[in-house]
Amino acid sequence: MSTAQIDPVSLHTPLPDATAEQWWRSAVIYQIYPRSFADANGDGMGDLNGVRSRLGYLSELGVDAIWLSPFYASPQADAGYDVSDYRDVDPSLGTLADAKAMIVQTHQHGMKIIVDLVPNHTSDQHVWFQQALAAGPGSPERARYMFRQGKGENGELPPNNWESNFGGPAWTRVADGSWYLHLFAPAQPDLDWTNPEVVAEFHDILRFWLDLGVDGFRIDVAHGLAKHPDLPDVLGGHLLNADHVGDHPHWDRDEVHEIYRGWRRVIEEYPGDRVFVAEAWVPNADRFARYLRSDELHTSFNFNFLEAGWDAATSRRVIDQTLHELRDVGAPATWVLSNHDVIRHVTRFGSGDLGLARAKAATQLMLALPGGAYIYQGEELGLEEVRDIAPERRQDPVYFQTGGERVGRDGCRVPLPWSGQESPFGFGPAGDPWLPQPANWAGLTAEAQAADPTSTLAFYREALRVRRGSSELGDGTLQWLDTVPGVLAFRRSATFVSVTNFTDEPVALPAEVVGARVVLSSAPVDGDTLPPASTTWFRLS
Ligand code: GLC
Repeated sequence: MSTAQIDPVSLHTPLPDATAEQWWRSAVIYQIYPRSFADANGDGMGDLNGVRSRLGYLSELGVDAIWLSPFYASPQADAGYDVSDYRDVDPSLGTLADAKAMIVQTHQHGMKIIVDLVPNHTSDQHVWFQQALAAGPGSPERARYMFRQGKGENGELPPNNWESNFGGPAWTRVADGSWYLHLFAPAQPDLDWTNPEVVAEFHDILRFWLDLGVDGFRIDVAHGLAKHPDLPDVLGGHLLNADHVGDHPHWDRDEVHEIYRGWRRVIEEYPGDRVFVAEAWVPNADRFARYLRSDELHTSFNFNFLEAGWDAATSRRVIDQTLHELRDVGAPATWVLSNHDVIRHVTRFGSGDLGLARAKAATQLMLALPGGAYIYQGEELGLEEVRDIAPERRQDPVYFQTGGERVGRDGCRVPLPWSGQESPFGFGPAGDPWLPQPANWAGLTAEAQAADPTSTLAFYREALRVRRGSSELGDGTLQWLDTVPGVLAFRRSATFVSVTNFTDEPVALPAEVVGARVVLSSAPVDGDTLPPASTTWFRLS
């Protein structure tokens, strides 16, 4: 048999510090966007009691853990990523008691729970920022944030040319003439991570949630906390490219790693296997792997895979690079195709039946890759991006900060359809959801799909069931099989093979799997061909 190996190791060579206890090396984790998941009190906004009411659905789906986007006290200028109190729950989503109950009940359902930590910035309504405004220039209160004097004769120009990720300048001027930095919305002032008070505060926030029993943290904008001490102009472009070597003034700077070494020490004070997952948009695989050194973070989303598109060659290159770089630091890969910031993958891959076929195939491929994987709420229902939200219903600050030029992320955040024939589709008992749901979602509700063995939901359940029952899936390595262009095939063990046909034509089965048992296919397999846009798992005898 002709095979191409990614590196000279045999299948299932244990990774450096792999142990069975490290659940996160193989976990499938479901992202809950709380305001859009389930609305228990009928006010049109999802809430923590809504999450509690659907834990049975999630354990039946077969995920190992849930990650919740922020539910902390927040003026909601960026849907909760602007936190005004890191130790309390926003009244629109529930209470701290609800959060405690949710943590306990998630564990009772046999799942782990990860919460979202937002350390790059606070809300402008956070007590620290309010104190900073009141205390004035040069005060210790201001030193928790990035206040600077402006350029120009009267300081009327921003201190440098940095741009907000949401559009427009990254600086806003306050009444006394100083400027403060915000890499996101003006309502999200950046903290100064060289200030020991900031470091200590976040250690304390970690402990607060660890004491309540959470199993880990997703770290928002993990590559953005450290800024160049001189705050020089950005020269090479606002976003990182694959060539950068740590010289960008505010992304992926070397100084950021010391922060995570401190956090690792905190999390290791706690029993059990708790985990960090970084949101680090770092395209250079070597730089990316640095976050995952053994004394730093455990995992990080692999956005290169998300950005590879529906393309066999690019996907294979990204998979190889990722596994290669992570092997050196002993970390598992973490695959993801959709989240609350990107266009849903059914839509990215072409929409309609073809988009759905490709999306299911990509998901099944992802679930066969070595490491852990994330599922974003609603992808198990095959939901599309909602593109036709009226301007007056839009909520995302990206839309407003770019004057509508960038439409923003509302289209992937529309509240889920659970049941029934019309909006709110069981999202809540009544009420107008905070973003409008398309009228044609009746056939896509969880209830409708649960009753249909050919539905996308049934496919996700089956894929997760097979994954759980196949000990070779999850952490480990893979071995590529030779295939024709447009097809990716790999072994996860002597008997388990995954084959993805990225083309829109049927393709002959690779020789290795002719006659093998089909364990699961994202599209019906007919004879000796792979259906167009499909993934199939085979069990060889
Ligand atoms: C992250 C979040 C995004 C948020 C931003 C600012 O990228 O995923 O939703 O807007 O950080 O906190």
